[in-house]
Amino acid sequence: MLETPIWITNFKNYESAIGHSALELARIHERVARETGVSIGIAVSAMDIFRIAKEVSIPVFAQHVDPIDYGKCTGYILPQGVKKAGAIGTLLNHSERRLPWEDLENAVCCAQKATLKRIVCAENPEEVEKFVDLDPDFLAFEPPELIGSTKASVASSKPESIKKSVLLAGKIPLLVGAGINSVEDVEVSLRLGAKGFLVATAITKAVDPEQALRLFVKAMKKR
Ligand code: G3P
Repeated sequence: MLETPIWITNFKNYESAIGHSALELARIHERVARETGVSIGIAVSAMDIFRIAKEVSIPVFAQHVDPIDYGKCTGYILPQGVKKAGAIGTLLNHSERRLPWEDLENAVCCAQKATLKRIVCAENPEEVEKFVDLDPDFLAFEPPELIGSTKASVASSKPESIKKSVLLAGKIPLLVGAGINSVEDVEVSLRLGAKGFLVATAITKAVDPEQALRLFVKAMKKR
């Protein structure tokens, strides 16, 4: 069971978070998790899962898996392969890697079969409601127009949607993401019932990622 509130940094394919840099960044996350006791995970490129999962003890997630099983599937990301590489879970349907409904249903099943934790991403409260039926371990609410923003966030621009999504998610813990870049964003989201965060820019593009992470995590701890 992953403890909440949880902070998950999505490394995406940022240059600062690929290959050797990804490992360095992963070690920073591990150190901050160890020293603060806050639940911290990372979602890394499929190419980096094996190396990173071998080196750090925090939860490592894939950013995507395909709805496939062992066999003739050249070039696809196999859920069992991700598991064997050391990931404990996967994001699914991230707004940068959307899946048609049927594929999403299948991907959730395949990930479950591979005993991966499932974080299903939704772009709006309506999708949050729809995706509850998939029974994921987490839902992540991320309005796409705010992803990558350093000026506005889901918490500053759409607090009412966070509240609504928390209600619609019911017993499934809701993560929030998109433009999260301040202590206020963290505080507001938690106050509205979010159980964690899915963040990229504020860490991967920070001048000092460790300092940034410590600041956010401190705000999580205060609660
Ligand atoms: O999955 C995290 C995400 O899409 C949010 O990205 O850059 O707005 O923190 P960012």
